[in-house]
Amino acid sequence: MLYIGVDLGTSAVKLLLMDSGGKIVNIVSREYPLYFPHPGWSEQKPEDWYEQTMAGIKELIRDVDKSQVAGISFGGQMHGLVILDRDDNVIRPAILWNDGRTTEETDYLNNVIGKDKLSEYTANIAFAGFTAPKILWVKNKEPENFAKIAKIMLPKDYIAYRLTGVHCTDVSDASGMLLFDVKNRRWSKEMCDICGITEKQLAKCYESYEKVGTVLPQIAEELGIPEGTVVAAGAGDNAAAAVGTGTVGENMCNISLGTSGTIFISSGSFGVDQHNALHSFAHADGHYHLMGCMLSAASCNKWWMDEIIGTGDYAGEQAGIEKLGENRVYYLPYLMGERSPHNNPNARATFIGMTMDTTRADMTQAVLEGVAFALRDSLEVARSLGIDLKRTKICGGGAKSPLWKKIIANVLNLKVDVIESEEGPAMGGAMLAAVACGEYASVEEIAAKLVKIVDTVEPDPELVQKYDERYARFRQIYPACKPLFDVLTK
Ligand code: XUL
Repeated sequence: MLYIGVDLGTSAVKLLLMDSGGKIVNIVSREYPLYFPHPGWSEQKPEDWYEQTMAGIKELIRDVDKSQVAGISFGGQMHGLVILDRDDNVIRPAILWNDGRTTEETDYLNNVIGKDKLSEYTANIAFAGFTAPKILWVKNKEPENFAKIAKIMLPKDYIAYRLTGVHCTDVSDASGMLLFDVKNRRWSKEMCDICGITEKQLAKCYESYEKVGTVLPQIAEELGIPEGTVVAAGAGDNAAAAVGTGTVGENMCNISLGTSGTIFISSGSFGVDQHNALHSFAHADGHYHLMGCMLSAASCNKWWMDEIIGTGDYAGEQAGIEKLGENRVYYLPYLMGERSPHNNPNARATFIGMTMDTTRADMTQAVLEGVAFALRDSLEVARSLGIDLKRTKICGGGAKSPLWKKIIANVLNLKVDVIESEEGPAMGGAMLAAVACGEYASVEEIAAKLVKIVDTVEPDPELVQKYDERYARFRQIYPACKPLFDVLTK
């Protein structure tokens, strides 16, 4: 049998075809535009996602026996607000996870409703990118659109809806809406009331590995796949990536270096970070996880390479970097503001420490190191909760760089296990489809059977020590710049 994993990302949709034994048969990718209508805003058109997903699936399965396609599932960019009217038409472009427009609504939720109440209802506090503040933003700023809302959906769920006609979501993605009672895995009535919506406007929530339906007859015909093809709920891209890298069960870690950067810690039981810096979400394996999310990770390097120094030769630029742990240039990676742990949409990216002898390689190195230091900020929060990690998996576009993996291993002092394929969310999506079809009994079983570690990057104690010193300096930069960021964004 064949399973399709759809990773609905921010820069592109990636599609992966996997056979029953976990072999990757094909991978394709299709880009779509990202709109920044104002500084700090970030939007996409759900129709673009759908068109490119359909075109991508056609290309993905062009040369295989289509009658073997048994299931489809997803990893999707999280938190994005997709609103549909009573005829299921999209009302306005989706407001994405890295959009910072909801400062007022986030402040209202955290300070007027109060962090304690939010945490009691949902296990989390408000962050600008979460879905509930966006609903309040539409209510306040676009009342005519708010009045039309019949269904509130997340990005990947819009695709599931177009494929099956079912309004569905899953527990991991629902967790990032701030409308979900994570501990009890159900919608929060209190949060619906606070946002002025009803539970009927939300989708039915499934476990990630559950079947939500089968493809509609016209979809089966258009794609040439069987009418009974199962669609499973899927997961937010980080939970899907965790499945794809075998980060399931107790105390496992995965780092994703995509547009965003996340550190994902799986747990067999529910737990909350009392500092509210890490998100407490349901996991796609039926359990829970904690996660720190930085808004710009591999995207910092992409911005620096493509937009600023103007080169497509990432490996060539990195080849000139030799002096790890000795760089005097520091970079704060806050190109879209920052989520974990600062929760500050006004934060901005910064280079500091250059002198006349600073080289282009020092600047590139500072970008890679700045992302690693910012990930360590979240790891330190986890360590302060008593979570003891010795190793992590890694996935995402940034994980292709051997240098970046070495920097991460040494800045975080973790062994970095490299998986056969770094296609985390797409692989996880295909694996969730295989579980929904009954090919494997559980997410834990499929992860244990399919995920293979092919290499481990070991931290070097001397370099760890050097990076500890650099990290102590890095930590001083954000508090020093913070008052300025508020002035600069005015
Ligand atoms: C997680 C988050 C990002 C997006 C990226 O909370 O906002 O990782 O899911 O697609």
